[in-house]
Amino acid sequence: MQSTHKKLFVNKNLGTYSFDEFDEKTKELARLKEQATAFWPQEKEMLLNLGIQKSRNILDLACGPGVVTRKINDLVPESQVTGVDLNESLLEVAVSDAEQDGPDRPVFRKADCTNLPFESSSFDFVYSRFLFQHLSDPDGAIAEIKRVLTPGGRVVIVDVDDRDLNVTPSCESFERLTKAAGIFQSQSGGNRFVGRTLDGLLHSHSFSEVTRNVHVMSSEQLGVEPFFRITTQFKLEQLPKDMAQDMRELLPQICNRLKSINATISAGIHVASGLAS
Ligand SMILES: C[S@@+](CC[C@H](N)C(=O)[O-])C[C@H]1O[C@@H](n2cnc3c(N)ncnc32)[C@H](O)[C@@H]1O
Repeated sequence: MQSTHKKLFVNKNLGTYSFDEFDEKTKELARLKEQATAFWPQEKEMLLNLGIQKSRNILDLACGPGVVTRKINDLVPESQVTGVDLNESLLEVAVSDAEQDGPDRPVFRKADCTNLPFESSSFDFVYSRFLFQHLSDPDGAIAEIKRVLTPGGRVVIVDVDDRDLNVTPSCESFERLTKAAGIFQSQSGGNRFVGRTLDGLLHSHSFSEVTRNVHVMSSEQLGVEPFFRITTQFKLEQLPKDMAQDMRELLPQICNRLKSINATISAGIHVASGLAS
């Protein structure tokens, strides 16, 4: 891993998730869909525990291909659910997939999370999953979330923290990939350790009743191969091209190594929540 080239993303507002510039868009789209579907049972419980079923206007901020937006729409059929994202290609997938959902499907709109096209107090629940690790201006996004929430409305933010991504027994090649991807993502303005900052961010914007919990997801639930796919494909997109190519070729070996040592991969997913004042 000699390369030190920083990956430059053309659309700066998309932070470190500039989907259209990724090398393997089809695989990344499949990964997004697989990940959203695999974790939904736990995610659904978490959202219900945080009272999403009492909400009337729900915003899924940075909804990507809309898998979770549509699941929320099914979960809370009486509410109006809106998904926004800045990437048009992913929004097109969301709109087209939602066509099978009938007339009460969610509404999808293009929007930048730091400049939302909604009036103040438009939503009583804002959900955002796996957005904040990509943002160089997380404060700008939190300020907008607070503005569009009604007083007493709830925000729930879900994101990673690579200090809680572990393999047992340890696997050096997996750790090298994780570390390199984290370093390059941070050089491009992202933060793979954002999870543990989320409650502080909410406090600093005067949200009340702030909580942060860590939910452990593991390959024991899904199997090593799917879990490995879900946690690595995106990392390749953060690496400089030459290093990504080397790593792409190494991935099957790393996965086989994990299987041969009977490894468990576990990821601590941080869930922060608070109420707007
Ligand atoms: C890792 S994907 C997560 C997508 C979806 N929330 C999910 O969990 O499947 C990150 C998403 O953030 C979107 N995004 C990045 N910067 C954004 C911004 N400034 N405003 C709105 N969306 C943004 C990307 O286009 C992408 O869809």
